[in-house]
Amino acid sequence: MDIVVAGTGYVGLVTGACLAEVGHKVICVDVDEKKIGIMKKGISPIYEPGLSDLLEKNYANGNLDFTTDYEEAYRKADVVFIGVGTPERSDGSANLDYVFSVCGQIAKNITKDCLVVVKSTVPIGTNDRVEEFLRENVENNIQVEVASNPEFLAQGTAVKDTLYASRIVIGVESENAKNILMNIYKRFNQPIVVTNRRSAEMIKYASNDFLALKISFINEMANVCEIVGADIEDVAKGMSYDSRIGNKFLNAGIGYGGSCFPKDTKALHWLANDHGYEVKTIKATIEVNENQKYKLFRKAKEFFGSLKNKRVAILGLTFKPGTDDLREAPSIPNIRRMLDEGAKIIAYDPVGENNFKKIYPDEITYAESIEESIKDADMVFIFTEWEEVKNIDIDIFIKEMKTPIIFDGRNCFDLNDICEKSVYYYSIGRKTINNFIKKNLMKKNFFEGGN
Ligand SMILES: NC(=O)c1ccc[n+]([C@@H]2O[C@H](COP(=O)([O-])OP(=O)(O)OC[C@H]3O[C@@H](n4cnc5c(N)ncnc54)[C@H](O)[C@@H]3O)[C@@H](O)[C@H]2O)c1
Repeated sequence: MDIVVAGTGYVGLVTGACLAEVGHKVICVDVDEKKIGIMKKGISPIYEPGLSDLLEKNYANGNLDFTTDYEEAYRKADVVFIGVGTPERSDGSANLDYVFSVCGQIAKNITKDCLVVVKSTVPIGTNDRVEEFLRENVENNIQVEVASNPEFLAQGTAVKDTLYASRIVIGVESENAKNILMNIYKRFNQPIVVTNRRSAEMIKYASNDFLALKISFINEMANVCEIVGADIEDVAKGMSYDSRIGNKFLNAGIGYGGSCFPKDTKALHWLANDHGYEVKTIKATIEVNENQKYKLFRKAKEFFGSLKNKRVAILGLTFKPGTDDLREAPSIPNIRRMLDEGAKIIAYDPVGENNFKKIYPDEITYAESIEESIKDADMVFIFTEWEEVKNIDIDIFIKEMKTPIIFDGRNCFDLNDICEKSVYYYSIGRKTINNFIKKNLMKKNFFEGGN
């Protein structure tokens, strides 16, 4: 069976590599020539643990290939997985232009009966539209069917999530489509949920929006903890023993980012609104996250009065550890605000620097290490909980910084370790440790107009 995967982003490339890994013949198509050129050298264009090895191995053994020649690829296809982006439009709805552009290419070029599998996250009803479009546009009496197969991988663990998926969801309207997909996925040996297309599309939105809701909920609880003097880490731990609640997605912080939660919450909210229904929980999830994003910035402003001419170290730029993806990373708008205030930014991220340079090529300085970033800094912001950030020896802040003032958006440190140290430490939903700052620093006149 010839499998084609359209789009070689986080979803398409990982899907292609994992299908090849279990023995399928896969060809990945992308319109980005540069990307395809890199992959043809057996190199992954994205940072994703384990992906380079899969790619190199399966490219070498001939199970996996890459091309920009979609005409040739679709000509031979029995099954096409669509994994192109579905970004947010300015009104919050999902932009399906890339999906339909692939559909146009498929319709023009397939030469035999074909199953088109929509892996991209798409609004409910899109698979019906895709099938209608394909049937109207294919020529020569070729039979095309469409199946929904939403993706649940998380960036940073994408390969593991695909090879050992929690579940595979298949949304089909025929036995034929079901059989083809069951046959493809039987080699993964994972639970398979078979449903109709609309339910499959809805499972994806409901899953992502529930996870986003969980994050916004715990962040609100953290905000209340700060007011009432409770500790969110202990609260979350206490909650997590209840199996109805679970122990995942209970980490308070400065909110979710990434390519999925922000757009998928807005897309479902938009879709429901379009049908005259307001999903109040999702609306609140979005609002809470937007507010949470700037929590550290507001705290720093409260502390310093102004950030003008302050040297600000940033640890972590990506929206979460384990990925080089910066889509909707809280670091981006926060750094914009800091720059607008007149701060000088020295940022460090173990893998996100190159991508960040595309957004901020010269307004900020990039450091090669944590030490270089925090040297002589007036304050440090932690936006991503990279292991090497979590493992910092707290004394380094005291040794290297001008003033050891730490705004930690990911609760990287144990308060027991921090409370021994002469630092100002503000984290989310926990007691603020303020051992020496006011007394020592006011004397030295570090704050112009701050408290
Ligand atoms: N990133 C994730 O963690 C994740 C997880 C689950 C689901 N999803 C969903 O999967 C979809 C893809 O997300 P992503 O993050 O992999 O996207 P991405 O932006 O990383 O990659 C999309 C790729 O598609 C390519 N492309 C665009 N038009 C094309 C065409 N006509 N033919 C072939 N290739 C084309 C682009 O060049 C790009 O390489 C989205 O709908 C997303 O919501 C993403």
